[in-house]
Amino acid sequence: MFIMNKSFFVIGLVFVSFLTCISCSEEIIQPLEKDEALNLHFPSYFPELTFDASGNPITKNGIELGRKLFYEGRLSRNNTISCGFCHIQENAFTHHGHNVSHGVDDRVGIRNAPPIQNMAFLKKYTWDGVIHNLNDQPIIPITEENEMDSSMPEIISKLNSDFKYKKLFKAAYGDESITGEKILKALCQFMATMISADAKYDRFKQGLENLTVEETQGMNLFNQKCASCHSGELFTDESFRNTGMYYNTQFKDAGRYRVTLDQNDWMKFRVPSLRNIEYTAPYMHDGRFYTLEAVLNFYSDNVEDNPNLDVELKKNGHVGINMNTQEKQFIIAFLKTLSDKSFITNPKFSE
Ligand code: HEC
Ligand code: HEC
Repeated sequence: MFIMNKSFFVIGLVFVSFLTCISCSEEIIQPLEKDEALNLHFPSYFPELTFDASGNPITKNGIELGRKLFYEGRLSRNNTISCGFCHIQENAFTHHGHNVSHGVDDRVGIRNAPPIQNMAFLKKYTWDGVIHNLNDQPIIPITEENEMDSSMPEIISKLNSDFKYKKLFKAAYGDESITGEKILKALCQFMATMISADAKYDRFKQGLENLTVEETQGMNLFNQKCASCHSGELFTDESFRNTGMYYNTQFKDAGRYRVTLDQNDWMKFRVPSLRNIEYTAPYMHDGRFYTLEAVLNFYSDNVEDNPNLDVELKKNGHVGINMNTQEKQFIIAFLKTLSDKSFITNPKFSE
């Protein structure tokens, strides 16, 4: 019933905008077609969806609005910092070249921007897992003074003065009123469609391509040495772990401890997904490592013992993960099979 009303509205809108565009040379906006509901497509071996579409059905025009908002600088105080500024597609939506993110007036944050991919399957968001619902996530960068330093009322008033947005909101929601809830829902729809599942590894899983001898060796080593934390098809169990990294006094970030204030959580961070890891340097919560070699050298040589150090990194009284140079090369070869070129070049996710 709701959908029918909406399409009716949208068809009417197409007609009206057709008339107005005859008389003006204003840029014609693409999505003013009949809206349609879309389903997310992903491989059967992926985890279950956590994205709840019941209160936010994914539609063609909703995604399109979300995409525009994702690349909209006016979501920030000085109109320069969009979500896409820190989440760059060719780096699997991370902030390439920045150890920690930079926002308005070049203000520096405390954390490395994680990739935005397969968000529709996660149960916790951010390095310390403080967010449990994807819908709530954009509020943080929008209001955070080191990121976009704005507010919903400020954004709504800016977007309200732009006729294009009125049309986009009407196309997506059936009426042109702009609200914070609609903004968040549209961003969330767009992010839910950002599924990365077309890496060489996926084609291997589907029996379409073989791995090389090196990659296969790497996969076996990975399963022995890494998969206890980087488990499953997203290569994370989403737990919080202390990996024996020194506390960075520049950013004073103790991870999960910031959320719980429990000493047992000191320096525990959410295990990150390793999909597209080849594209997302620098690495770790503070971007301290610039290469995968450096990450593996850390695991083999520089893990620091501490009372919270994860048991997986303290096996048989040995601190760190035993790996020789060749084993590291194999593991890196395997990690590169998680690179999904089509994801980072897909025009559906581009500005
Ligand atoms: C100034 C840089 C910056 C901007 C702008 C920015 N982000 Fe982020 N984003 C980050 C950082 C840094 C984190 C990690 C935060 C943390 O762990 O506390 C993050 C985390 C996220 C996450 C969670 C990812 C995960 O794996 O848990 C999502 C989703 C996200 N951002 C979406 C957005 C959206 C949507 C916008 C625009 C409204 C946006 N971001 C704007 C830097 C930015
Ligand atoms: C005890 C659990 C655990 C084990 C075992 C483990 N990791 Fe990690 N890994 C983590 C956590 C937690 C982080 C994030 C740490 C941080 O930023 O403070 C991480 C971060 C990484 C990163 C950086 C990801 C990014 O987006 O910045 C890479 C790459 C990585 N691990 C690869 C591996 C490989 C390869 C192995 C096996 C040799 C391995 N890990 C073993 C828990 C683990």
